[in-house]
Amino acid sequence: MNTSPEITGKTTVCGVIGDPVEHTVSPAMHNAAFKALGLDYIYLPFRVPPRHLAAAVQGMRALSIRGLNVTIPYKVKVIPLLDEIDPPARSIGAVNVIVNDSSVLKGHNTDAEGFMRALKEHSVEVRGKTAVILGSGGAARAVCFALSAAGAGLIILNRTSGRAARLVGDIMKTAGHPAEAMPLDRQNITIALKKAHILVNTTSVGMSPEPGETLVKGDLIGPQHTVVDIVYNPVETRLLKEAAKAGAATVNGLDMLVWQGALAFEKWTGQKAPIEVMRKEALRTLNGHEK
Ligand code: ATR
Repeated sequence: MNTSPEITGKTTVCGVIGDPVEHTVSPAMHNAAFKALGLDYIYLPFRVPPRHLAAAVQGMRALSIRGLNVTIPYKVKVIPLLDEIDPPARSIGAVNVIVNDSSVLKGHNTDAEGFMRALKEHSVEVRGKTAVILGSGGAARAVCFALSAAGAGLIILNRTSGRAARLVGDIMKTAGHPAEAMPLDRQNITIALKKAHILVNTTSVGMSPEPGETLVKGDLIGPQHTVVDIVYNPVETRLLKEAAKAGAATVNGLDMLVWQGALAFEKWTGQKAPIEVMRKEALRTLNGHEK
């Protein structure tokens, strides 16, 4: 199925910059959304090698590109190239969306709010709860700042424990809620999960081509937990399968992916995103990738 809208001389261009970008589902998701709303927009993938990142961002002004998603490995490196950074993205230290308003480039982070929207959609209570976070990379930073701002206490476990400690330090500077760091091992996971209501995997463990991996086995999870995996390929990771079996509520990475995209769409177009169209198209594209 060709989901691209018809291109005219007035078509507004959006896209994604990253390296690699071959596996992104964003073009399919956004083009389906533009088409569903009858918008004269198109979304393209741009593979940008590191030496051309600055030129690519400058090129948004030269080519009047309305908006870009920023993906691996540029979410941090893009910050000094922009005119303005909105405050949550500044605290997180990562930008995944650029909006070009009359040549003024503003950076946002919709990963954080997208994560919270996914939780809200599943009626997950956050305020006053304790969340265990696995990982301390860029994705973990967005998740931790969002959860802390929403009133959750955090226990962050990471393989490299110094990285988790640094993230805790950054969070304590901006939010008053308790946060602690622990090295990632089975004993600490067991201790942390006894106190926790929410578990979030922000690492790549469990992602295709190694879907049999998980950092937490189902025997440590119970019906008192909500388990969130930001891995979306496969949509139902081993962690989520075992969590569901143990009676926990689950939220998959596709939900966060779709919501971060929907929030970007709204910033570029000023229109409410057709969330179900985006979800369906993202899933269809992911299923195509699996074949
Ligand atoms: P992203 O921006 O997608 O979060 P990242 O910054 O490379 O990517 O972070 C990846 C996270 O997954 C890190 O917390 C990493 O742990 P380290 O800080 O110790 O590297 C974690 N991670 C990746 N593979 C892992 C594995 N096999 N076991 C445990 N943690 C892993």
